[in-house]
Amino acid sequence: MTQIVEMKKEMRAVTSVWRRAGRRIGLVPTMGALHEGHLSLIRAAVAECDVTAVSVFVNPTQFAPGEDFERYPKTFEADLGTCRELGVDTVFAPTADEMYGPGAETYVMQERLTSVLEGASRPAHFHGVMTVVLKLFHIVGPDAAYFGRKDYQQTVVLRRMVADLDVPVEMRVCPTVREPDGLAMSSRNQYLTANERSQARSLYEALTRCRELFDAGDRRAEGLREAMRERIAREPDAQIDYVEVARPDDLNPAQSAEPGDVALVAVRIGDTRLIDNIVLGDDDT
Ligand code: PAF
Repeated sequence: MTQIVEMKKEMRAVTSVWRRAGRRIGLVPTMGALHEGHLSLIRAAVAECDVTAVSVFVNPTQFAPGEDFERYPKTFEADLGTCRELGVDTVFAPTADEMYGPGAETYVMQERLTSVLEGASRPAHFHGVMTVVLKLFHIVGPDAAYFGRKDYQQTVVLRRMVADLDVPVEMRVCPTVREPDGLAMSSRNQYLTANERSQARSLYEALTRCRELFDAGDRRAEGLREAMRERIAREPDAQIDYVEVARPDDLNPAQSAEPGDVALVAVRIGDTRLIDNIVLGDDDT
């Protein structure tokens, strides 16, 4: 039986009962529009924890004016059905007014990590993400929280926040789930027209090319970046935002690529901005 909770106070009451009973609490933060990527996180949480909460909240503070907040897909009834099927105990779905009380003006800031890559294109994005995730951690008090590796920089930023602010939560990062042709699952894929969808394959093909060159012994990071740019540039509607080969923990650009480094791409296909990444020397992405 999956319970729906809309109020923070009620969510705290639910989890405090779980905590007193000594149960391991898993949290899967989402913005809804659940796809196979989310499902893999929920399955991991249900398998590893005694009780699982899934939050469904399209967080306004992580969108800049002009981004897709208004049109972000909302499929709450279907999401609820999915959570029921997967054995989720509680779906936490607050309104924006409930989540951010009147006059809210306190945000979580982080220095360098939030200003590169995604942060360079979306300057306030990670402040909104960190703030809502820290609030969810306070409200739910999970033992473990589940995130997808597809949002690689988000996982690095959140791990840093958890370490810096002594948040007692285990961060679990699960592999990217892909469509049969390699496109990373994303709620934003549904914005793509058929023609754009076919061009969107170029992100994973570029990353795969990077991996092939790396596996063949090419360690020149700039050469790997160039190979990715070259693949993406073949698509008429693709505009590269960034292509990078970076160190895994601090996201500094690599000069000479090493196993564990991460290749990251952000590309606009028509009006839709897509991101993807793979970890070099690791086939599980
Ligand atoms: O990855 C997402 O869907 C969001 O950034 C998150 C973590 C749910 C915070 O709103």
